[in-house]
Amino acid sequence: MSSVLFSPIALRGLTLKNRIAVSPMCQYICDDGNANDWHLMHYGSLALGAGGLLTFEMTNVSPSGRISQKCATLCSDENEASWKRVVELCKKFGGAAIGIELAHAGRKASTVPPAQGGRALKPEEGAWETVAPSALPYADWHTPRALAKGDLVTLVDEFVASTQRAHRAGFELIEFHAGHGYLMHQFLSALSNQRTDEYGGSVENRMRFPLQVFAAMREAWPKDKPLGVRLSVTDWVEGGLDMSQSLLFAHQLKKLGCDFVDVSSGGLDHRQQVPFAPGYHVGFAEQMKREVGMTTMVVGLVTGPKQAEEIVASGKADMVVMGRGVLYNPRWSWHAAEELGVDIPYVPKMFPAHPSLRPAVFPNRAKA
Ligand SMILES: Cc1cc2nc3c(=O)[nH]c(=O)nc-3n(C[C@H](O)[C@H](O)[C@H](O)COP(=O)(O)O)c2cc1C
Repeated sequence: MSSVLFSPIALRGLTLKNRIAVSPMCQYICDDGNANDWHLMHYGSLALGAGGLLTFEMTNVSPSGRISQKCATLCSDENEASWKRVVELCKKFGGAAIGIELAHAGRKASTVPPAQGGRALKPEEGAWETVAPSALPYADWHTPRALAKGDLVTLVDEFVASTQRAHRAGFELIEFHAGHGYLMHQFLSALSNQRTDEYGGSVENRMRFPLQVFAAMREAWPKDKPLGVRLSVTDWVEGGLDMSQSLLFAHQLKKLGCDFVDVSSGGLDHRQQVPFAPGYHVGFAEQMKREVGMTTMVVGLVTGPKQAEEIVASGKADMVVMGRGVLYNPRWSWHAAEELGVDIPYVPKMFPAHPSLRPAVFPNRAKA
């Protein structure tokens, strides 16, 4: 059977062998932001057969931009070397292109990891000052300091420096995190951005800083490497960011050379009411793709091969992005190919597991 899911897709100079991506997922296991042996095992495993693109977890451009003390950073030589080791292993043995998600948590920094309750760190636990467009906290977490103009210049420099480090570490793609309630999203949403300068007020003003950061990153990232954005297209809260504003933002990103948009939602306001259901972002992705015409990825409860095939074959999105589904089944793409009747090559060393070598299917090839 021919499959769109298993057809290649080009993003600038990078051609992905299929349209399945592994979603960035924080591991909350770094010391000083460095990758370690867990990352070798975890990403090494996912690089073998989860998808054509493997995007590493939210990696912050400064220690103060971390969600927790155990989150990843890419802002020192030590960080760079640690992530390079993981990228090299994945590329040496795996079959996926390797990307990284660059971010700053803003007012959602200085917390304990979600598995330990996801609350603000206490002073005696090493809490640090958080920053945001305005001095408005997320739920009952820390009240952030409103960023001054000079801080914005520093932040641009930090995103640029991490972008350059990502290139040196061997990453092939960057996803700029402008969703899930983190710093860029805090600028975009009127619920968290109540600035009175040119970075607040109208949607054009709220987009200004994320667009400045994106443009600087694009300039610093090699021309043949793709740079895209993860967006929360709606806050699911009255008065928050909505699809019409997200479409405006995406149009501007496209003008700046954005290669893809990864459609997600929520994370900005604890009052959100998210209608979780299989593929619950697909409608937004479809509208994004139709109205903006940028390569569109969709994440969120995409778990089944036929579901994934339908999403891309019908043109609702160009790629599917999977989180928990590939944690559950790190060989998801192999199993999807078999279910869809597509013959895909496996990475070397793994070929004996290929369905075509099962005697019941191809007795002659099994003898060879
Ligand atoms: C353990 C875990 C860690 C996550 N960390 C990140 C992250 O670092 N960056 C991000 O953009 N989303 C993160 N997410 C959200 C996922 O990338 C994904 O958007 C979400 O899980 C919905 O997709 P799914 O239904 O396929 O799991 C995380 C999700 C999980 C389960």
